[in-house]
Amino acid sequence: MTMLQFMSYDAPYNVVPFRHDDALRSVGSRESAMQVIAVTGGKGGVGKTNVAVNLAVSMSMDGLDVMLFDADLGLANVDIVLGMQIKHTLADVVSGDKTLADVVVDGPEGLRVIPAASGVAQMVDMQSADQEMLIRQLSDQLMPPDVLIVDTGAGIDQTVQTFVAACQTAVLVVCDEPASLTDA
Ligand SMILES: Nc1ncnc2c1ncn2[C@@H]1O[C@H](COP(=O)(O)OP(=O)(O)OP(=O)(O)O)[C@@H](O)[C@H]1O
Ligand SMILES: [Mg+2]
Repeated sequence: MTMLQFMSYDAPYNVVPFRHDDALRSVGSRESAMQVIAVTGGKGGVGKTNVAVNLAVSMSMDGLDVMLFDADLGLANVDIVLGMQIKHTLADVVSGDKTLADVVVDGPEGLRVIPAASGVAQMVDMQSADQEMLIRQLSDQLMPPDVLIVDTGAGIDQTVQTFVAACQTAVLVVCDEPASLTDA
């Protein structure tokens, strides 16, 4: 399974209100500030991770330096959608065993991926101090990309809200279910 297969999906899945061209324009040259885009949507299973992965790969193919941050701390799966095998995750960063720079892995098309852990209770209940530490390390430790794409988990809990609030742009992914629209 590759990310390109997912790109062939048609409606009923929709992404609002993001426009790819606008994002590329606002990113500008490498010298400009990094564009930070959260992919979110409220309801679970609407396609957030697939949109985040495909957007990241697509922008990488367009020549941008892109980093994809898996901020679904409960059931992370960016690495799985990308077919990657990873050794270390954000859980190692929060436990203090690794730095953020240690856990970044190279994905397809030059994309850099920051994988999260799946099924680690400590990550689900992450304290806001740990969230702030991660966000700070993102800007302090890593060579800033042109675009940082943040795949959030389902729901509107504090963790999701913190990550979305830290981003300049939020992409809301919705599908053709009424609950998806109300949740978004
Ligand atoms: N555009 C699409 N068309 C049809 N099916 C899709 C589309 N995007 C994703 N899917 C399917 O929907 C399911 C959920 O996708 P995905 O994991 O991207 O959703 P999610 O919103 O990230 O879920 P979660 O809330 O669990 O993080 C997967 O089985 C995926 O293959
Ligand atoms: Mg997801």
